[in-house]
Amino acid sequence: MVDLATIYAPVQRDLDALDGLLRAELVSDDPFIGELVAYVLSTRGKLVRPALACLSAEAIGGGATERLYIAGTVELIHIASLIHDDIIDAADTRRGTPTVNVQWGNQVAVLLGDLLFARAFDLISRVRHPEVAPAVAEAAVRMSQAEIKQIEYASEPHGEEGIYLDIIEGKTAALFAAACRAGALVAGASPPQARALAEFGLAWGMSFQITDDALDMTSRAEELGKPIGSDIQGGNVTLPVIHVLRSASDTDRAALLRLLQLPSRDGEMEEVRLLLGRYGAIDYALGVARRYADRAAAALEGLAPSSARQSLLDLTEFVIVRPK
Ligand code: IPE
Ligand code: IPE
Ligand code: MG
Ligand code: MG
Repeated sequence: MVDLATIYAPVQRDLDALDGLLRAELVSDDPFIGELVAYVLSTRGKLVRPALACLSAEAIGGGATERLYIAGTVELIHIASLIHDDIIDAADTRRGTPTVNVQWGNQVAVLLGDLLFARAFDLISRVRHPEVAPAVAEAAVRMSQAEIKQIEYASEPHGEEGIYLDIIEGKTAALFAAACRAGALVAGASPPQARALAEFGLAWGMSFQITDDALDMTSRAEELGKPIGSDIQGGNVTLPVIHVLRSASDTDRAALLRLLQLPSRDGEMEEVRLLLGRYGAIDYALGVARRYADRAAAALEGLAPSSARQSLLDLTEFVIVRPK
């Protein structure tokens, strides 16, 4: 497997500059706000959204300063949504450290998320291309709608793949699509090129969330730096569970439904894993993720060969086998 550092090489300079940009954008006279900002910036995620924005720009051949603004914007929107997501999921760790909600409580976490969202939109307003800010804003709208929809369906385990795919397209893939499209646009992409990279981002984002949902059931918390089994506990029906609900015997389906609806307890995940294993549910989900990754790779076919295009292609392999 090609590692992320190698994949990111064509845009490493942008990623190195990103931290300084975010610190400068979030600077504050108030020491408490300064402490909160320092806390969330002290842990780094994988930076996939900024990397995709910059690789898309690089694959078209430019984008200069504006692509860094896009990178900063999408990472800010992402961090803000994680802060809010951790309140919703009552999660206690993120990126291997205590969440903002655990450290300072939900009230502060809501407002810190809002602050990052607001700053993200300030940053994107500095990008001159007329289609960029609307694309990013639309993705943020879709993320909120999808998160609401996810809660709406959490109380009734549904077993419908279409509902699941619709939710993850909004909550995750839309931002990847916007990042890629925006990066391409500021680099001077033609409409078909911008469309191709948006399509790449959307399909890649689907694959990314499906593998994230599989990791929630197969990985260890220490490896991921965030709680596992959280989807089951939150009643969030993901693809492996949907597969079992559709294909299991009546007895097993009833057992799984009971596990999903009972208040969580020790040993629950083991029973869920047993049922998932019996029906090959993880392999099923990873097969669907693979098909989206293949679709992402196919979207790159019209782009001229370059190291950035190769990195995007390598990411379609990485997304399926990633350890976290
Ligand atoms: C986590 O995103 C939330 C999902 C959409 C699955 P990442 O896995 O990109 O989180 P970080 O930024 O690397 O921590
Ligand atoms: C991702 O959903 C959150 C957003 C896209 C807003 P998850 O709930 O799956 O993310 P993790 O697993 O907590 O990182
Ligand atoms: Mg979560
Ligand atoms: Mg998850």
